[in-house]
Amino acid sequence: MKTQVNGIDVDYRDQDVGLPVLFIHAFPLNQTMWDEQVAALRTHSRAITLDLRGFGKTDAPPGSYTMDQMAADVRGLMTVLEIDRAVLVGLSMGGYVSLALYRNYPDVVGALVLADTRAGADTHAARERRLKSAEKAERDGARAIADDMIQLLVGRTTLERRPAVVERVRKMIEANSPKGIAGAQRGMAERRDSSYILAGIDFPTLIIVGDEDTLTPVAEAEGLRSGIRGARLEVIDGAGHLSNLERPDKFNSVLIDFVNSLKESW
Ligand code: MLT
Repeated sequence: MKTQVNGIDVDYRDQDVGLPVLFIHAFPLNQTMWDEQVAALRTHSRAITLDLRGFGKTDAPPGSYTMDQMAADVRGLMTVLEIDRAVLVGLSMGGYVSLALYRNYPDVVGALVLADTRAGADTHAARERRLKSAEKAERDGARAIADDMIQLLVGRTTLERRPAVVERVRKMIEANSPKGIAGAQRGMAERRDSSYILAGIDFPTLIIVGDEDTLTPVAEAEGLRSGIRGARLEVIDGAGHLSNLERPDKFNSVLIDFVNSLKESW
């Protein structure tokens, strides 16, 4: 389905009724990365996914897509769908957007799942790499970015034993526009350090990380856990950075337990 938000067409899916769980995807993927989680939640709660600006079937306007802009888009979609408060589930870039959403609109976040992500900003070297990668996307196209990123996004076990997952991730990356990939890279390069907001989080928070994640390793997840009062950490074995796609069985069971635990006090 499509709706206008902040001057662009945003593609989203909204299923079922009940406690709203809003999924925010990773870079440079799209909302279909959450298909297994949406299916698993079907009888448990309302699941909403969207393609962030620049990705999937959502428009890719020119310019750099800051995390604040993406958070404003998610907030705009919540307004359209008349959702006052949601459980946010953000993986990697989706986690950066979730933290920006909490920083800018604290009342709309009722609980948080931060998967394979970090609160900190980029180092100088990481920022330089991103800006080069944005130029590369514009010059050489999405396939070149897929070639660079596949080995980093999935874990060793997936590379060796789950060729269908690797192929699915590649297809998702290649389907994106170079303009969208470049816009998000530049926006992530500009993102602020969100570490200072962690201490203010006073709602249930679950941290998830794949034990083979080399982009946001277990130590990053431990940092998030110790920064957020009462946060729970689940480490998923045999998964890399895309833990939900690589081990959907384990990811879903942890997620469903968490969502069910929220229902009484929501
Ligand atoms: C992601 O999976 O969203 C990216 O790895 C985020 C990033 O490049 O920092």
